[in-house]
Amino acid sequence: MKSFMMRGTKILATGSAVPDSSLSNHKMSEIVQTSDEWIFTRTGIKERRLLTGVNQSVADLAILASRKALDKISMNPQDIDLIILATSSPNDLFGSASQIQCKLGAINAVAFDLTAACSGFILGIVTASQFLQNGSYRNILVIGADVLSKWIDWSDRSTCILFGDAAGAAILQSCSKEDNSILEFQLNTDGNYSNHLSISYQEEINPHPILNLYQGSFKYVVMNGKEVYKFAVSQVPLSILKCLKSLNISVGDIDWLLLHQANERILKAVAEKLSISSSKIIANLSKYGNTSAASIPLALDEALQDKKISHNDIIVVSGFGAGLTWGTIIMQWKSY
Ligand code: COA
Repeated sequence: MKSFMMRGTKILATGSAVPDSSLSNHKMSEIVQTSDEWIFTRTGIKERRLLTGVNQSVADLAILASRKALDKISMNPQDIDLIILATSSPNDLFGSASQIQCKLGAINAVAFDLTAACSGFILGIVTASQFLQNGSYRNILVIGADVLSKWIDWSDRSTCILFGDAAGAAILQSCSKEDNSILEFQLNTDGNYSNHLSISYQEEINPHPILNLYQGSFKYVVMNGKEVYKFAVSQVPLSILKCLKSLNISVGDIDWLLLHQANERILKAVAEKLSISSSKIIANLSKYGNTSAASIPLALDEALQDKKISHNDIIVVSGFGAGLTWGTIIMQWKSY
């Protein structure tokens, strides 16, 4: 627990939403040259959900997930002080959080987007907990939502098989230090490797004829899969160990390992490196693929619905991805 903490953070409720439209590996093999066997053995993914239809955006999924979380505790949206939307696929580059604020009727909340790709939800929770622990705000809605299907090159079989669309939300509340659930965190970025996973902005060849100004647009997800794999498997265990050390607890104290749902092989390799039993891994990526910022809250919400997680369980939650940015939160789950 951070020594400067004045108050604690508790997680009151979670919610999640996925689109109805599902794309199986078999169907994928009609789109690019691949097979169910190739995808499943290398990633553990069987299917993913895609946000299809006209005028559907990340905000729609985020609103759905948020409403479910609010409904669980019958919270009035007007009681939310802050909304943090972790996303890398907004429908407005100025941010999508304000659309969510408006549609939820959270008229008293300030709202902003946070961009940290697949680590976005981790960064969102850590950011929110600072406001809660220093007493600035009482109720914060943190959403992880992404619709990377809109940013995928659907002819690139090395990336299009991996991602899916979803949203997950958590309502955090300021509480006494004794009830605090966010015990420790550890965050990292190494921009040297930002090119390993990006959706980069590409300028047109010719500038504006008078202004010498180059305009352009964002293209598609580009990834060096092997390097990202190596990065995750080497750095995530180190981050977890650092976090455990600063809390003065051991691997044996962990009840659940909740990693960003990128690839089943990564989940297993991290658990193996830390000698954590695979029965403690929370995984749902076979159904949804890598849903970027949504993956952690989606998996957490499902695990809670399945009643896997009990009061006072220690959950190690790690995110990793583009940036490259990665980080860990150690939570002690409190049931209300
Ligand atoms: N279906 C069939 N073959 C495919 C394929 C697909 N979907 N995608 C790539 N291949 C082919 C490649 O073209 C290559 O063929 P070649 O040997 O003839 O050149 C071969 O399979 C091996 O490709 P490679 O990229 O070396 O595969 P890999 O074993 O590294 O597995 C990933 C690819 C993407 C599954 C793996 O690198 C990975 O999971 N990386 C982490 C990605 C990740 O999690 N990113 C998000 C982090 S937030």
